[in-house]
Amino acid sequence: MSKKENSAKCVSEHISAFKCPLCESEMKVVDLKSLICSNNHTYDFAKQGYINLMTQQSNSHYSKELFESRKNIINDTNLYAEMHRVISNVIKENMDISRNPILIVDLGCGEGSHLQRIIDECESDAITGVGLDIAKEGVVAAAKSYENPIWLVGDLAKSPLADYSLHVILNILSPSNYKEFKRMLVHDGLVIKVVPGSHYLKEVREALYERTEKKDYKNDETISLFKEHFKLIHNINLNYTKILNKEELLNLVRMTPLAWSGDQDRLNAFSNQNSAEITIDLEILVGINK
Ligand SMILES: C[S@@+](CC[C@H](N)C(=O)[O-])C[C@H]1O[C@@H](n2cnc3c(N)ncnc32)[C@H](O)[C@@H]1O
Ligand SMILES: [Zn+2]
Repeated sequence: MSKKENSAKCVSEHISAFKCPLCESEMKVVDLKSLICSNNHTYDFAKQGYINLMTQQSNSHYSKELFESRKNIINDTNLYAEMHRVISNVIKENMDISRNPILIVDLGCGEGSHLQRIIDECESDAITGVGLDIAKEGVVAAAKSYENPIWLVGDLAKSPLADYSLHVILNILSPSNYKEFKRMLVHDGLVIKVVPGSHYLKEVREALYERTEKKDYKNDETISLFKEHFKLIHNINLNYTKILNKEELLNLVRMTPLAWSGDQDRLNAFSNQNSAEITIDLEILVGINK
């Protein structure tokens, strides 16, 4: 079975979780080639094994190179391994993962490595992963690297997923739309949102910016907005450092939007160090849909 057919088969097994992003009607998979709604809006599966459900094109700043660097950092340095472990434990503790099927959807999945690693660590055949991102380059990279999750190009603010169809929503370092999240989650479903803490990648920010405005950010508002929509059951702070070598530092700079507005000379100086200590500081908000 080709990647395209495999993806179409996987979508057809979970077809009730899909809705047309244009007219919101039900969808069906036709000939393991296309996803078609009751009003005949048609979306074709791509040969790489993803499906584009955008209703209009969007231009993303996120490039193929950025996603490649992100994948290298996530898989080769284990910089985020602790986050994967914590998130999969939260899922195992709060979900009956022997219940069939469990849909875990990563909204703003980028190149897909976080979703794949988290699902692997849950060690359950009952889980199906769905990754959605507005950046096509990210989703193409995800589909090329990882066959099993369903990969979608789509907008999390106008998602092609049906009401009450998801058991877990992951939202890692990406924008949110809580109204949409609530609509899609089953009652008692989990939302796991990861936000940067004030020391997250501080070495990169300190190296790139002279002035301090870009260096600090606070999460109080993010947390109170989250609490308005979900019952907050955990707020886990992950704070640790890891030494990265020269090649890894280059990937780190390339993977982060911080570098877009940073000074090029400073950026070069940073990635020319033989090694440097890098801080991970993340807050993991876990909520239940009530
Ligand atoms: C900082 S990246 C994080 C990606 C990934 N979660 C990770 O941690 O590697 C933010 C992601 O959010 C995606 N994004 C931004 N707006 C979006 C939207 N409206 N719908 C879906 N994805 C969106 C971007 O394309 C990008 O991949
Ligand atoms: Zn339609």
